[in-house]
Amino acid sequence: MFRKSPILLFSICMTLFIASCKKPVEPPPISECGGEATTPYTVTRPAYFPSIPDMSDNPLTEEGIALGKKLFYEKLLSKDNSMSCSSCHNPAFSFTDNGKKVSKGVNNIEGTRNSMSLLNLLWAKNFFWDGREATLEKQAHDPVTNPIEMHETWPSVVEKLQNSSIYPDLFCKAFGTNTIDSNLVTKAIAQFERTIISTNTRYDKFIRHEISLTESETNGFVIYSTEKGDCFHCHNQVDMTFADNSFHNNGLDATFADKGLGAISGNSYDDGKFKTPTLRNIVFTAPYMHDGRFATLEDVIEHYNQGGTPSATVDPMMKHVGTGLNLTEQDKTDLLNFLKCLTDSSVTTNPAFLE
Ligand code: HEC
Ligand code: HEC
Repeated sequence: MFRKSPILLFSICMTLFIASCKKPVEPPPISECGGEATTPYTVTRPAYFPSIPDMSDNPLTEEGIALGKKLFYEKLLSKDNSMSCSSCHNPAFSFTDNGKKVSKGVNNIEGTRNSMSLLNLLWAKNFFWDGREATLEKQAHDPVTNPIEMHETWPSVVEKLQNSSIYPDLFCKAFGTNTIDSNLVTKAIAQFERTIISTNTRYDKFIRHEISLTESETNGFVIYSTEKGDCFHCHNQVDMTFADNSFHNNGLDATFADKGLGAISGNSYDDGKFKTPTLRNIVFTAPYMHDGRFATLEDVIEHYNQGGTPSATVDPMMKHVGTGLNLTEQDKTDLLNFLKCLTDSSVTTNPAFLE
């Protein structure tokens, strides 16, 4: 018979005790500036979506999200007070740049890249076309100081916000302090961004058995999700993001004016690789690709149908380079109709996201 040793029992008790000490349950922060406790915000998502990632280093609160939304629309974040995040991430265009090929910053200087939509970034693990930032908080630091975007300095932004009549109080409510700093600004913006979630496309309704797809949409879905079109390898519909948190060369060019991931990693094996963008709300985000080279979705489908351009780093999952997909005109229409099933106007018109 197994006899319980007191030493063993003691060490089990100690382990349990230490484990229970590791994550103390903290009361909601009470502010040093006279604010109330914050109200936790719970993200809801359909059961067929990925689970909610850990957000314990910047927990969502009603107050933080409200402040983040205000900052997202705040022109004081730019050098000449003319531009906010929303100037290039307009909800009506699924948070992209009003149909512009590449974005223009405060001095009217043209950048080299197309603005990215901000849907379901709660589940994203890398940010920008080249993935150079790993969190939304770090991402939000960049546009403010980027000379071809808001071209401002953080000390100046902080001073403007600190001197405003509303912000010290809003930071007090959200973070329990009315001393503003860049970390709190980006934390609040990241909280707001994490609430921008699309779950109401025709495709979602189809998955929820609320509707059936038309014959054309069904054929489009088959092309999308089989070797016939091969879209699913990178724009993954199974995890519902229609992206894959990864980088690929989808056969745009033989040589690369913009090296994408390669310029960040310094590895020539990564040249010409860019972040797979989500295809949710793709009808609103024209023009397409990191440099906005394709004006329409028909052009994009034609690019893939032709098979794309061979190069040293073209993705092995671009299986039809050189041969093309050989889609019929009907197939192309059907694929387009399926892409239109990914439209979610409930996000672009949701008052929670509008100014
Ligand atoms: C001048 C236009 C412009 C402004 C202003 C701007 N952005 Fe962007 N945003 C872009 C462009 C262009 C990209 C892609 C840039 C790249 O890949 O180098 C981008 C990328 C992003 C991404 C990455 C999305 C992804 O899927 O990886 C996020 C998040 C984002 N911006 C949020 C913001 C926030 C928050 C602000 C305000 C603090 C802001 N942007 C201000 C144009 C802009
Ligand atoms: C090998 C991975 C891969 C495959 C396969 C693939 N894509 Fe892409 N797709 C990408 C990447 C990466 C980008 C961004 C490329 C860039 O801008 O340089 C992209 C961009 C797009 C865009 C433009 C998105 C935007 O916001 O500008 C659309 C639309 C698109 N793909 C649709 C499709 C369709 C439809 C298929 C199947 C016929 C497909 N893709 C197959 C990786 C892939």
